Amino acid sequence: MGNPRDKEGKERVFSGIQPSGDMHLGNYLGAVKNWVTMASQYDCIYCVVDLHAITVYQDPKTLQDKSREAAALIMAAGIDPEKSTVFIQSHIHAHAELTWLLNCLAPIGWMQRMTQFKEKSEKQKENVSVGLFGYPVLMAADILLYDTDLVPVGEDQKQHLEFTRDLAQRFNSKYGATFIVPEPSIPTVGARIMGLENPERKMSKSEGGEGNTIYLLDPPDKIRKKIKRATTDSLRDILFDESRPGIYNLLILYELFTGDEREVIEARFKGKGYGDFKAELAEVVVEGLRPLQSRYKELTADPTYIDTLLSQGADRIRPVAERVLAKAKQRMGVG
Ligand code: AMP
Ligand code: TRP
Repeated sequence: MGNPRDKEGKERVFSGIQPSGDMHLGNYLGAVKNWVTMASQYDCIYCVVDLHAITVYQDPKTLQDKSREAAALIMAAGIDPEKSTVFIQSHIHAHAELTWLLNCLAPIGWMQRMTQFKEKSEKQKENVSVGLFGYPVLMAADILLYDTDLVPVGEDQKQHLEFTRDLAQRFNSKYGATFIVPEPSIPTVGARIMGLENPERKMSKSEGGEGNTIYLLDPPDKIRKKIKRATTDSLRDILFDESRPGIYNLLILYELFTGDEREVIEARFKGKGYGDFKAELAEVVVEGLRPLQSRYKELTADPTYIDTLLSQGADRIRPVAERVLAKAKQRMGVG
């Protein structure tokens, strides 16, 4: 299937992150670290999705602060806002407007199959908003507005990406070639970082106790304490064995932070105990996050600096969104 535009220059990458809590190692290793790698090769757009965050209640003042913080963390992780675009979703009206157009095209049956909605709505019961149900449509609008070729995300977003592709194809076949059908880019290792206390479930902003999640801005001692207390098992050998989720997850963290081969890591800890391994892992994580934490401090020293970068980011990219939205409206016969 031919794409509806001739590609000139670099392919476009788009991804997003919710400012609904503090950013953690799962976000970093499953998504943001890959965003940094992709930035040298692609034309990248990274978005702090505050409109997605409000699908469940957010304290207004906290949400504003967390949006800015998430943007600063993306930049601190190594995204240069001069080379890539970083912006806040609500700063570009086209996201909400395209969502409406796509809402009118998205079959309810497709929506009802979304496993993330089922999981989230289980927890909230009668308080579930229409917005939470429509969450994947807003995500599709984010992606389709920028003629996106590639979407780097963690495993948990795979179904939303398939939905986006299906919706783009549905639009194109009903109204004529309009949207590029994007491809997902899911890392082979790190796509699903598990919780430290409960390694049966993914590390997340909202689940588990404080000790379950390592946040990117956690001070070194907190990181050491959390790793020390991480759940393991009653066996001894330090091996990459998926049937032992606790130690396996810790080894994945070690692998991702050091870049060492699995055999090398296993050989290094042969005959050693969990305590030794955890102590070494803690130092690897602390050192791995140190540059990010110090850049974050510099970037946020002047509180208006990030705001300026974010409004420049939105201004730079808005014309692309406006153009794609105008095309979609014209195709549908509105506006
Ligand atoms: P969210 O925090 O839900 O906005 O997720 C932002 C990005 O981080 C998405 O690409 C997710 O797939 C990814 N992500 C979130 N939690 C994890 C996790 N535990 N392991 C790997 N990737 C994750
Ligand atoms: N739903 C994604 C998450 O929770 C965040 C997101 C919103 C996103 N819009 C996006 C990711 C567009 C990739 C592309 O992780």
